[in-house]
Amino acid sequence: MAEKAKIAILISGRGSNMAALVYAAKSPDCPFEIVLVASNNHDAPGLTLARAEGIATCAHPHKGRSREAHDAVMHEAIVEAGAEYVILAGYMRILSDGFVKKWSDHMLNIHPSLLPKYKGLDTYQRAIEAGDSFAGCSVHLVTAELDDGPVLAQTEVAILPDDDADSLASRILIAEHQLYPRALAQYVTREFDPDWILEQVRNRALALEETHERASFGAPGWRVGSETTGKYFAYFSQSHLGEAGIALLVKTTGLDEQAALIDADPERYYAPKFYGKSGWIAIRLDQGRTDWEHIAEWLFKSWCQVAPKRLTRLIAIADQF
Ligand code: GRF
Repeated sequence: MAEKAKIAILISGRGSNMAALVYAAKSPDCPFEIVLVASNNHDAPGLTLARAEGIATCAHPHKGRSREAHDAVMHEAIVEAGAEYVILAGYMRILSDGFVKKWSDHMLNIHPSLLPKYKGLDTYQRAIEAGDSFAGCSVHLVTAELDDGPVLAQTEVAILPDDDADSLASRILIAEHQLYPRALAQYVTREFDPDWILEQVRNRALALEETHERASFGAPGWRVGSETTGKYFAYFSQSHLGEAGIALLVKTTGLDEQAALIDADPERYYAPKFYGKSGWIAIRLDQGRTDWEHIAEWLFKSWCQVAPKRLTRLIAIADQF
């Protein structure tokens, strides 16, 4: 298994979601490990539990500090612990824009409603009063707006006729404890999920000018130019033609560049079957920690190789400025 993702959990109180994550992480095949439990409150009961489980903890009260200064102290502790993801679990603080930006796509929260319904507080009472038949919980990415980021996973929880806010809350909490570890495990392993990888390539390929997607011998491929005369500049290979793993095929400047790449990093680059002879290179995308900026550059370079002159001419002119 790939290296485990390192997680910092931020709590303010009880920490029952934190406990669920801690226990999930004890399973040998869990793809994440908890490297820190941090709180803005010295007395958060969750801290005692984390300490007893041998997890590093810290508490930095927010009183007397500006929001930015407090977030900066928390950020420092999280980085110091080597965490790659920040997991909010009942962390009762509004976060500064700077902190949210720093952890963009790497910070998750759990919220006790079926988002986008009932952002903020009193979610249970609001669901009951609205006459909903289902409430639930959502795990979402944290963005600048409160409880607004893309939803990663949800569990519906039926509202019973005699439910009050407390009884509903305690059932939703059971669902939360199941959902959070599962959603987090899925999220930190997304880099190995073929559908996710394909989506990353597709978005970047189609962001280039005059491109469209067309399958080639069953593999997704991207062409530049018109539907009739367009040329391929990239293919997505998922165990295609019997080759191992998932790779992006792009066009190099020729066999010399192709050989130099394979020489420099034989783990990541290889000469693909058939296309290899004409200078294409395969770049493995299933090894984790893929540099997607770099992949976007490769797609662009390959696009430049085959794009009609009227498109590349403009870029050549722009490059001079
Ligand atoms: C949970 O209801 C969670 O959905 C919300 O805050 C509560 C935290 O509870 N964000 P706990 O501290 O995890 O027990």
